[in-house]
Amino acid sequence: MDILNKVKQYREEEKTLKWEGTFADYLAIIRERPEVAQTAHSRVYNMIKHSGLSERDGRKMYHFFGEEIFGLEESIERLVEEYFHPAAKRLDVRKRILLLMGPVSGGKSTIVTMLKRGLEQYSRTDEGAVYAIKGCPMHEDPLHLIPKHLREEFYDDYGIRIEGSLSPLNTMRLDKEYGGKIEDVQVERIFLSEDKRIGIGTFSPSDPKSQDIADLTGSIDFSTIAEYGSESDPRAYRFDGELNKANRGMMEFQEMLKCDEKFLWHLLSLTQEGNFKAGRFALISADELIVAHTNESEYRSFISNKKNEALHSRIIVMPIPYNLRVSQEERIYEKMINESDMKHVHIAPHALRVAAIFSILTRLEDSKKQSVDIVKKMRLYDGENVEGFSQIDVEELKKEYPVEGMNGIDPRYVINRISSAIIRKEVPSINALDVLRSLKDGLDQHASISDEAKEDYMNYISVARKEYDEIAKKEVQKAFVYSYEESAKTLMDNYLDNVEAFCNKNKLRDQLTGEEMSPDEKLMRSIEEQIGISENAKKAFREEILIRISAYARKGKRFDYNSHDRLREAIQKKLFADLKDIVKITTSSKTPDESQLKKVNEVISRLIDEHGYNSVSANELLRYVGSLLNR
Ligand SMILES: Nc1ncnc2c1ncn2[C@@H]1O[C@H](COP(=O)(O)OP(=O)(O)O)[C@@H](O)[C@H]1O
Ligand SMILES: [Mg+2]
Repeated sequence: MDILNKVKQYREEEKTLKWEGTFADYLAIIRERPEVAQTAHSRVYNMIKHSGLSERDGRKMYHFFGEEIFGLEESIERLVEEYFHPAAKRLDVRKRILLLMGPVSGGKSTIVTMLKRGLEQYSRTDEGAVYAIKGCPMHEDPLHLIPKHLREEFYDDYGIRIEGSLSPLNTMRLDKEYGGKIEDVQVERIFLSEDKRIGIGTFSPSDPKSQDIADLTGSIDFSTIAEYGSESDPRAYRFDGELNKANRGMMEFQEMLKCDEKFLWHLLSLTQEGNFKAGRFALISADELIVAHTNESEYRSFISNKKNEALHSRIIVMPIPYNLRVSQEERIYEKMINESDMKHVHIAPHALRVAAIFSILTRLEDSKKQSVDIVKKMRLYDGENVEGFSQIDVEELKKEYPVEGMNGIDPRYVINRISSAIIRKEVPSINALDVLRSLKDGLDQHASISDEAKEDYMNYISVARKEYDEIAKKEVQKAFVYSYEESAKTLMDNYLDNVEAFCNKNKLRDQLTGEEMSPDEKLMRSIEEQIGISENAKKAFREEILIRISAYARKGKRFDYNSHDRLREAIQKKLFADLKDIVKITTSSKTPDESQLKKVNEVISRLIDEHGYNSVSANELLRYVGSLLNR
């Protein structure tokens, strides 16, 4: 099986990446590749940079996030430039906890998860390689072995700064196992892994009464105290808290602000001084990025509490608002649907777009500019051209609200409503109207929407519906006039044959049967009436056309569909009138005649083949557009 091969390949690759040697060997490695000894923050930043970067509309796009995070370029740019980059340069922000603040389901956890998965991958590359003292539960940085008084010299020689002291456990091991000879200490390459608890940790608070600080900083191992004789022997301590395990990488602190204060104080010292206290030992140095996330109201109540004052200055808050671009929102839904068990369901074209329009409208703030209503603003934000406005206006609009998008409908709500629409319908196919209906019905059950907001939201549902009506009509028209040029030509040839016979008082001959027929008065009139030619004027009009044709013939030019403006207009109008009739037929009880049926089927197969519908959704679309035209 292919999968087993892949697993094997991965295992073998890991084997080849493995490295073990003495501290002396390690020094040789960093002499050549000093980046190996970088700090955790620097590694995260380089990892992000490593995936590449491009610029669009003066905005930096970090590819690292680009495949899974959509429409948050501004927030990401800020996150990288105001946190990761300076932190990598050992500036002060590094000493603060990174707190992502934003509305529910806005992508915060996704960003954190990407960083974790990214680090796992990156530590397997040459650029992202990490080495540690072998056998250390905290995978301690081997450079801690260098005594403090020699570090200045080491820096001059290697260009690498060393922070942090050798841990109590490794201090003891150095003495007992290596007789104090640092050059002999075994070093190994490590591969960060959340599953194996190497360099990546997650802490989530549980019941404050039962939760133990040990979850963060480890605990005494009572089974070994007897062996080592004392609680203060580091060998009798399990360094297996999340802070220990996340050393050299990152720790995610879930629900940080809901956490008991005593946990936060540990973080304070860790972030500020780069060390924390565990058991009865000297401070333990750790090098890790701490990321937490929260929503706005939780954050506000946190900072309004005087007791938390000391913590404020040690947290750097990065807003992660909702995406505000319709087209990006559609991508979010597509991604979420692909990850779900709804993948097999047919989602008619524009269904996600209409949902996205609704969501974005709920997130936008009203502009103070009179001339910009919310729909225009939505279009401008999505990069569409709106008459009378430019992208400079967009920048101005954005300045009105420094952080916009902290409220509104979240992507998960939309996905839940889509899935409940699917359950309600028997066929695995849903369209834009199903989605809108479901979004609307769900508003009643939505816990966090005020009555006032609900009124606005209902209004946005109608706006989205109107947008859809326009899209739907255009879609059908497009499918219908596909063979437009051809239909127009056929219709005109047909008309001209009849006109010629009429003027010359001839009969026409049926091409199939050879039968003689009189000119088709009904057909000619149905075209002429489109441009208001009366019964009295018809003869003159028909003669004028014939004269035009012979004038063309004399000059050796071909008379075609574009040669006579008024005739062309008449033919076009006639075709569109037919369209209306045909579309209407689909909603009326009248049975269509053969040619109408043929046309309807043509339109339907066109919608299926070229526009992404299936037969259910194509029929639904036609019926809907028919009902619109019947109004
Ligand atoms: N801007 C976005 N780009 C891509 N996916 C998003 C975005 N915002 C939300 N999502 C998706 O919505 C869902 C909820 O996001 P999540 O990261 O759990 O949000 P949070 O942690 O902020 O509550 C996830 O499936 C996520 O992929
Ligand atoms: Mg989350």
